Order: sequence, then C-alpha cells, then structure tokens
Amino acid sequence: MKLKTKDLLTLAELTPKEFVELIDYSIKLKKELKKGGNKPILKNKTLTMIFQKPSTRTRVSFEIGMYQLGGYAINLSSNDMQLSRGESIEDTAKTLSRYTDCIMARVYEHELLDKLSEYANVPVINGLSNSFHPCQTLADFMTIKEKKKFKGLKIAWIGDGNNVCNSMIYGAALSGIDMSIATPKGFEPDKTVVKESKKSTNIELTTDPFVATKNADVVVTDTFSSIHNSNTKRIKKFLPKYQVNSKLMKSAKKNAIFMHCLPAKRGLEVTSSVIDGSQSVIWDEVENRLHSQKALLASLIRA
Ligand code: CP
Ligand code: NVA
Repeated sequence: MKLKTKDLLTLAELTPKEFVELIDYSIKLKKELKKGGNKPILKNKTLTMIFQKPSTRTRVSFEIGMYQLGGYAINLSSNDMQLSRGESIEDTAKTLSRYTDCIMARVYEHELLDKLSEYANVPVINGLSNSFHPCQTLADFMTIKEKKKFKGLKIAWIGDGNNVCNSMIYGAALSGIDMSIATPKGFEPDKTVVKESKKSTNIELTTDPFVATKNADVVVTDTFSSIHNSNTKRIKKFLPKYQVNSKLMKSAKKNAIFMHCLPAKRGLEVTSSVIDGSQSVIWDEVENRLHSQKALLASLIRA
C-alpha cells in the first residue's frame, strides 16, 4: 500500500481508512514472515536513523525491519553528527536526502521533526519526540486488533498524559475507539490533540483511575517519568493512586488486556502481578513494533 502523506510525525497525517489498512498490512507482513520470510520489497533502499535519546526497541525493530525487507539501515547518534557542532537541521536534512531513502529520528523537541520534514525530500518518521510516539501506537493498535475487534471498545489510560498517550488518543480517533484518561491534575494529555480527537470519538478526561477502567477492554500505562522529564519528585504525584495493580485491573472488563510500551518500572506505574500476569500483552506489543514499522516503511518509501 502507499500512503498519501510524505512523513509520519504524529498520526494526524493519516485518514481512518489508511490507519486501518496500515494495521491490516502489518498483520499480513507478520504472517508472511512467519511462513518463511518477507519479499525484498525494499531491496537497495536505505533508512538513516538519528537518535538524540536512548532506545532499545525502536532502534532494533527498525534496523531488523529494513533487513527483513531487503534494505539496509544505519544508526547515528546525534552526538556523532555535525548537528552536535551546530550544523543546521536544514543542511542535515538536505545532505541525508542525497544519500538515503528515509529518515527516522528520535528527538527531544517535536519541532525538530517538523524542520526535518520540511527540508528533507525523503520520508521522515518520528521514532519518539517529547510530544508523540506514533510508531508505538501503530504497534499497539495492531496488537489490539489481533486480540479484539475495534468496534465498541474502550481504552483506559492511567498515569501520565505523555507522548505515548497523545499518540494513543490519535489512534483512538482514527479507529473510532473510546478512550478514558485518568491523570493527576496538571498531567493531562495535549489539549489540542484531545480537542481534535473528540470530533471522531469519545475522549474522557478524569482524575479517577476507577472511572477510566470502568467497562474498559484495554488498560494502558507508561512510565511516570519520561526521558525528557526524568526526575524522582514527579513520581510522588502519581503514587499510590495511579499505579495499575490487580485491584484496578479487576475494575475493568474481565477479559481486558494490559498494555505498556516499555521500558517499565515494576512497582511504580504497574505491579509485577499485572505486567507479568495473564492479561498482559506487552511482548506482543514489542514484537509488533517490527511488523507495523515494516508496513510503514514499505508504504512511505517510494519505489
Ligand atoms: N517503546 C519504545 O519506544 O522503546 P525504546 O525506547 O526501547 O525504543
Ligand atoms: N514516555 C516514554 C516512552 C519511552 C518509549 C518516554 O518518552 O521516555
């Protein structure tokens, strides 16, 4: 499949139809791989990855994904680039566009991705910014679709209304799934994202985790302290009320699944009994990063 957008920076670039088709394509590529391997549809294509922040899953799944589709990926820490010595984003984007077929970047400020996208002639993919994590959402909605039908579902987000939460809200809007978000005051998701998404689905904001999990089919959380706002003081604002534990899981539907993008801090945002328990689908989420990003790469990189 081909997407109309050149870049994937937030998910707002996609139509609901494209979003669902991309997920179905991811499931197809997963089945194909398990049957013996994918076709080399990205033969001779290259991906350049820029990391301003650490990563395990994003780095490995993009690199292996390119390899499995017959292409090649190179990994650059921004510290090793001339960017760190003041070369402009504009010149960096134009330089990379002369070498590579796609750029994936994990950055602090989301505006840096907007600039990369403006000056690069090749697709730019957001591998996480302070504001969004669209690739995680693709994998998460693929995982939800493998376990349940989208229609009539309710997602409960518990904890910090962070980058992963913002992207999940866009995912909910694109798939018509209701979402209830429980955060402490001051930790709500992005107002514009919520406002835009409310046009397509029910997005509820609450401070009560039990309101969010009522009748929920999916319970999601993430770290209380992201890479860009890492400090121990903020954690106190979340505990004990916003921890996903067995009691909170019991208040969701009986067959609800538990999701977390990882890395996780057991004993903080989630207990071991939940994240390592029978309702947890975290390892499917991890695996599906690979399949959904391959679908994305194949859909963005022009033949
Ligand atoms: N979930 C996620 O993006 O993991 P990494 O930070 O390890 O890439
Ligand atoms: N919210 C986390 C997600 C890590 C994948 C962060 O930004 O650090």
